Amino acid sequence: KNFDIALIPGDGIGPEVVTEGVKVLKAIEKMDTNLSFSFTEFPWGCEHYLKTGKMMDDDGIDKLRHFDAIYLGAVGYPGVPDHISLWELLLRIRKEFDQYVNLRPVILLNQSLTPLKSKTEEDIDFLVIRENSEGEYAGAGDWLFKGQPEEVVLQTGVFSRKGTERIIRYAYEEARKSNRTLTSISKGNALNYSMVFWDEVFEEVGKEYPDVETYSYLVDAASLYLVSDPERFEVVVTSNLFGDIITDLGAGITGGLGLATGANVNPEKQYPSMFEPVHGSAPDIAGKGIANPIAAIWSVSQMLDFFGEERWGKAVLTTIQDMVKETEMLTPDLGGNAATGDVGDSFIEKLKIT
Ligand code: NAI
Ligand code: MG
Repeated sequence: KNFDIALIPGDGIGPEVVTEGVKVLKAIEKMDTNLSFSFTEFPWGCEHYLKTGKMMDDDGIDKLRHFDAIYLGAVGYPGVPDHISLWELLLRIRKEFDQYVNLRPVILLNQSLTPLKSKTEEDIDFLVIRENSEGEYAGAGDWLFKGQPEEVVLQTGVFSRKGTERIIRYAYEEARKSNRTLTSISKGNALNYSMVFWDEVFEEVGKEYPDVETYSYLVDAASLYLVSDPERFEVVVTSNLFGDIITDLGAGITGGLGLATGANVNPEKQYPSMFEPVHGSAPDIAGKGIANPIAAIWSVSQMLDFFGEERWGKAVLTTIQDMVKETEMLTPDLGGNAATGDVGDSFIEKLKIT
């Protein structure tokens, strides 16, 4: 089987970590004669914007449409306003390809990496399913009387029946399939329309899943629990903004952004899905060759699972686990002194199918 992959390395450390992920896919291709990958690179991002005034080509979405997957590094860099780089590339792709499920695993791979003193690897192991197409990121709002004393800005959340139901249903299915509890994180006390609706849909859809044990927390309380007793969480479903925030918190309790991955999935496979590390372009370390490539390699594992090549997806994740446990070949963010490329090289030496 051949899979066609669109590469958008993007800005800052994006290209540095995508290089390592591609290395891993090429190594798999060598080890498995039934599998091959072809890559097409698109030079989109902030540099492209400064040259052309566009983050991506006008017909960029059409150019991506026929690929099996998109593999993205990071976008955004000083010199281009963040809301432009985010909306005109990353969010545009997520929305146009209706990648409404964002899968972000939060798994502690080595006890020494969590700042939570008493917590072990068994305690921190959950999957956040973030709504990825609407909600607080709907882009609906207005800026009235701009620059005047009576200036007012409005930013509206949009929660549709269809959008809310499908993400919650996806999460119930995932919890049922993996025999885990499901926790909804919302804020119905303060957001008295959107989150009340969210909570109602969560309960309503839940009637079809009497076998799934559920919990529902307000996002502020959930933030506390994520630090005080993360073992409460198994599968989590939440809105676009809350999901963004709590998954960085999840990264914080498991070793940082260098280990956090996210898949942007269109489950119906009408359009390509996109795989990317959670982190951004990290301007503070870009160009130094010390970016941690593990998050980006974990994205490759998610991509392989999505392709139905779960044996390889698992093999990649197991190798990540081993490397983080052994700790001899890690980048500075994890306390090591290895370079980005050395981590990638060492990774493919260790990689094998079990
Ligand atoms: P960031 O994720 O780029 O960096 C935050 C901190 O984590 C920095 O200290 C950085 O050095 C460190 N870090 C991140 N990834 C790392 C890795 N792989 N290895 C080692 N250390 C790592 O977030 P920040 O600084 O808020 O944003 C920088 C730019 O990236 C902005 O323009 C922002 O808009 C953009 N961004 C893009 C995202 C995306 O493309 N999905 C996500 C988040 C931010
Ligand atoms: Mg984020």
